[in-house]
Amino acid sequence: MSYDAKFRVWRGDATAGELRDFTVAVNEGEVVLDIIHRLQATQASDLAVRWNCKAGKCGSCSAEINGRPRLLCMTRMSTFTETETITVTPLRAFPVIRDLVTDVSFNYQKAREIPSFAPPKDLAPGEYRMQQVDVQRSQEFRKCIECFLCQDTCHVVRDHEENKESFAGPRFLMRIAELDMHPLDSLDRKRQAQDEHGLGFCNITKCCSDVCPEHIKITDNALIPMKERVADTRYDPLVWLGNKIRRRS
Ligand code: SF4
Ligand code: SF4
Ligand code: FES
Repeated sequence: MSYDAKFRVWRGDATAGELRDFTVAVNEGEVVLDIIHRLQATQASDLAVRWNCKAGKCGSCSAEINGRPRLLCMTRMSTFTETETITVTPLRAFPVIRDLVTDVSFNYQKAREIPSFAPPKDLAPGEYRMQQVDVQRSQEFRKCIECFLCQDTCHVVRDHEENKESFAGPRFLMRIAELDMHPLDSLDRKRQAQDEHGLGFCNITKCCSDVCPEHIKITDNALIPMKERVADTRYDPLVWLGNKIRRRS
C-alpha cells in the first residue's frame, strides 16, 4: 500500500540553510533512507546525504529525525503515521558540510588522542591466555559501528562547542573503559579518562545509551563502572595513604 508522506528536509551548507517541504511517495516496508533516495531521484537531485550499507552496520547515515539522532536506514516509515510531517535534519553537534552531511572529524581526532592497547613490554606472544570472562566484559563495546549518534546527543557537547576540547564523548570514554578493563593493558586509563578526556563532565543522564542503534549500555556498563573505579583509586582513604607512602619511599 502506497501513500504520500510530508517531509521537511534541511537544505543548506556551512553558511546558511533552511527547512524545505516535500511530498514523497512511500511504499510498504520502506525506511526513511528510501524516501530520501526517492526525493533525490525525483525532486532534489543535488540533495547531499551520506550512506553506505543500508543495513545499520556502516554507521554513516546518521541524522536527526524529528529532532532525535537516528540512522536513516534503520528507521522504518511504519513508525510514523501517514499524516504526520517527518523532519530530517543533519547531526546538530557537528558542523554541516551540505544538507544532511556533517563533518564528524571531531570524533576521529578524539580517537587519535587515545593511546592504543599497551601490553607489558616483556610479555612474549603466547605467554598469556585471556579468561573468557575478560573477553566477555568488553565484547559489548566492540559492537560499536561508530555512527556517533551518542556523541551527537550528549548534552555536554551538543550545545556547548567550548566543551569539545576537554571532553571525548561517550563513544571514546567507552573505549577507554574497555581498555581499562583489559587485564593486560599497562597504562593508567583511569587518570586519562578523568584528567584528559573529561569523564567528570558526564552526569550519567543515559541519553547516549538511549540512541545507540547497537543497544550498547554505554552508561551502565562503561561510564558508571569507570567513574566508580576512578573514585576507588582517588578517594578511597586506604588507596590514598598507600599511594602517599609509595611516593615517599
Ligand atoms: S550519560 Fe554521560 S556521556 Fe552519556 S549522554 Fe549523558 S552526560 Fe553524555
Ligand atoms: S556507542 Fe552506539 S551510538 Fe555510539 S557510536 Fe557506537 S554504535 Fe553509535
Ligand atoms: S547506511 Fe550504513 S548504517 Fe545506515
